[in-house]
Formats: sequence, C-alpha cells, structure tokens
Amino acid sequence: MAQRERWGSRIGLILAMAGNAVGLGNFLRFPTQAAQNGGGIFMIPYMISLLLIAIPLMWVEWGIGRYGGVRGHGTTPAIFGLLWKNPIARYVGILGLFVPFVVSCYYVYIESWTLGYAFFALTGKLPKISAEVAASSEAYLKPFKEFLLQYTGMGAEGFYRPSLAAYLFFLVTMFLNYTILIRGISGGIEKFAKVAMPVLFALAIILMMRVITLETPLGSAVQGLNFLWEPKWQELGNPKVWLAAAGQVFFTLSLGFGAIITYASYLKRNDDLTLSALTASSLNEFAEIVLGGSIAIPAAAAFFGVAAAQLIAASGAFNLAFVSLPAIFANLPAGSLLGFFWFILLFFAGITSSVAITQPVIAFLEDEFGFSRKKAVTLTMLTLFVLAHFAILLPKALDEMDFWAGTFFVVVFALCEVVIFFWAFNPSTAWREINRGGFIKLPRIFFFIMRYVTPFFLSIITGWWIFKELPGYLKEASPTIWVTRFLLVAIFLGFGVLVHLARRKEKAHER
Ligand code: PHE
Ligand code: NA
Repeated sequence: MAQRERWGSRIGLILAMAGNAVGLGNFLRFPTQAAQNGGGIFMIPYMISLLLIAIPLMWVEWGIGRYGGVRGHGTTPAIFGLLWKNPIARYVGILGLFVPFVVSCYYVYIESWTLGYAFFALTGKLPKISAEVAASSEAYLKPFKEFLLQYTGMGAEGFYRPSLAAYLFFLVTMFLNYTILIRGISGGIEKFAKVAMPVLFALAIILMMRVITLETPLGSAVQGLNFLWEPKWQELGNPKVWLAAAGQVFFTLSLGFGAIITYASYLKRNDDLTLSALTASSLNEFAEIVLGGSIAIPAAAAFFGVAAAQLIAASGAFNLAFVSLPAIFANLPAGSLLGFFWFILLFFAGITSSVAITQPVIAFLEDEFGFSRKKAVTLTMLTLFVLAHFAILLPKALDEMDFWAGTFFVVVFALCEVVIFFWAFNPSTAWREINRGGFIKLPRIFFFIMRYVTPFFLSIITGWWIFKELPGYLKEASPTIWVTRFLLVAIFLGFGVLVHLARRKEKAHER
C-alpha cells in the first residue's frame, strides 16, 4: 500500500479545515436563515444544536476520519466497513460519496458567479444608479435583479440560458479548483488555505467595519443588528425554527457531508484531534456569527430600512448577495472596490469549500482503486463538469439537489456516523480514539452526549423530515424535478457499483 498523503503542519491543517467549513453558508445562508426564522430567536436553537449535535459530531467525524486514514482509507464505504462488521456497512457509506459529490455539482457553479461578479465589480460593469433617482427600493434594485437574471439566464423559458460570461467564469472556476486539487493535500489544499483564509478574514473585517457605520434616512446598520439579535420568544415553540437552526449548523460546519472525514483521514495516528477540531469550528463560528451576521443584513437594513431588509432576506440568499449588496455598494464611495472585496471574499470562502467537497471522491478512487492523484482528480473533475450542467441548465435542478443532498441526507448520514461509531463499533474504543493525542481531554459528559444525546436528537430530526416534510416535497413534481431525481438515483447507484467493485478487488487481494 502506497503511503497516504499527510497534512504538512498543524496550523495548515486547521486553516484547511476552517476553509472547508467557512463558505458561502456563513455569509449568505446564515443571515437569510436567521432573518427568515424570527431574527434573534434563531440563535437559541442554533446554540443548542451547536453544543449538543454539531460539536460532538465534529469530534466524531474527525475521529472516524483519522481512524480510517491510519488504515489507508479516507471515505466512509471502507471506513464503515472497518468499524461495523456487517455487509451493508459499506453501502451505508455510499452517502459519504453521494452527498459531497452532488453538492459540488451546484456549489462550484454558484462559486463561479462570485468570481464573475468580482470581476464585474472591479471593472465597473455592474449596474449604476443613484439612490435619489429611484422612487422605491424595488425600483432601485431592479437593474441589479435584471443583471443577475441576464447573467445566470435563470429567467428564460424552458432551459436556463447562462450568459457567455457565466459559462466562462464557470470554466475558470473549475480550472482553479483543478489546479489546487491536482497539487494534493499539503501541496495544494493546505498551501492555498494558508493564504486564502487570512485574506478572507481580513476582507470580512474590513467590510464589517465599513457596514457597521452605515446610516441613511431610512435606517442604520445598528437597527439591522438589533433585528438580528433581538429575541422574539414566541417563535421558540415553532419546530420549523429548530429544524432550520439545526440545518444551518450542519451546513455551516460541513457536518454530514463526508468532507470533514476525508480531510481528517490525512492526520497522523497520534496527531491532536480534540483541540484542532474545536479551533477550526470556532473559526467558522466567528466567521458566521460575528462576520456573517454583521455584513449583509445590517447593510440592507441601513440602506433600505429594517422592514425592506427583512423582505430581501426572505427572498433568498442569492438576492441578498448578488442583488442587494452590489446595489448598496454602488452608492458608497469606493463602491467598486467594496463590491470587489465582497465578491472576492465570497469566492475565497467558496473555493476553499468546493475543494473539500470534491476531495472525498478523489480519495475514494485513490485509496480503493489505487488511482494516481492525477488520474483520480481528472476523472472526478470531468464527471463533475458534465453533471454540473444539470444545475446550470435545468430549471429547479439546483434546488432539488440542494434539498436532497445538502439538507436531508446530511442529517441521515450524520445519524449513521454517530450510531456506527458509538454503537456498532465500540463506544469506549471510539471515545479513546477521539481523545488519543489530544491537547485537551474532553470532559466525560461528551461521551454520554455522543452516545445518547446526539443520536437521539438526530433521530428526531430525521423522523421529522421523513414524516412531516418529505411528503410535501415529493408532491412537487414538475418534469425537470423528476429528471433531477432520476439523476440523483443514478449517481447513487453509480457509486454503489463502484463500492461493490472496490469490495471485490479487496477480496481478491485478501485471497
Ligand atoms: N460549510 C460550507 C459553507 O458554509 C458548505 C460546505 C459543506 C462545504 C460541506 C464543504 C463541505 O458554505
Ligand atoms: Na460555514
């Protein structure tokens, strides 16, 4: 067996893991979710989910990953097979390939918009309009909305018709991802994160400081912050808010995606896990709560007033990022530069995440089929390139992929992980595995949380999805949605075949 790759340094590992977690979710998904779910009240279920589900699961994923990596495997089909001596274990592990791969099919495309917009902002090609001329916030936002529709072609009848620019920037983004991935774990991903993450934090802090002082006759950034942080207790009994909060915590920390497991598989046997995982998670939460919460919504509140900002947030993350913020920056001194900072920030957040969701399939091909890195990266990226066209061209495909892979199966998969590690495997071995080499020793209470509390809450959330939410989703059935669903089944079966072949190969080897 060839020597697996390793992270080069502890700081590099932490920045790569933070790069994995800090993504578009922090700056777009978090503020919109918070605004749509009662503002301040959202933070209570958010914090509870963080403590009882996310942080324990983070240690579980790092533990599972390092355990597998030491034994030559970086993805869950093989690792679940090691942990749980049941023939179906490795087929459950398919989710650890399916989820990240499907998400990467649309994530890279959205990431490419941010690069395109960064370019347009810098070259002054975004719409220009002065606030005084526009009669209402709708009138003011209109040219920016039209620009986005023009760019993505998502307003077209029938298939979407992306602009030439959108397609070119998608190609460039794919190429940049390829360039990083082909250089490998420490030579590509880690090296890039060491530059990109500090730049990302610096840009976000600059933007936050600019936005916080914004004030217009219509409102102020401080009012936006108040809206986001003022608790509305009556919303606390609403299960929708809890589901949204748990979902956001999953998404933002990249939990249940298989991406953390694969990154952790490049740790050494006695590398610290407990403190590193906590540090990377804290960086993500800082980027989410402090930075993500203090840019988009406060800016919109200052510029359009709190009520309008709420409507904007309710209309979705894309409107906030690609319509409202460029519109706001267009009216500030040095607006093109601020716009450029905003979109480059998003691009760095995006690309350090997209390489993380692409890596599991690459690792699978390397570990289980002995592919060279070059061959594995090329094959994965080519398939990704082809399948991304569904998200680019087929109406509703992107949302459908996001729902199944990015919302539903992440929870299911996370439940499988923790149950396999703390029930099917051996709970005390699992606990020792997590703590081995740790710079901090986890309080014993987390053992009980990981064994009982986390699986309990994950079961409730999974059950809620299956019985309360899925029936409604399944009823939605346009032809393009069904095409997407067939595609998803085909991708799943495709990975199933690969997992089966890998198993046969391994058996032949054992003989
Ligand atoms: N955590 C990322 C975000 O906040 C999303 C992501 C999930 C990235 C899984 C990689 C893997 O945007
Ligand atoms: Na995140």
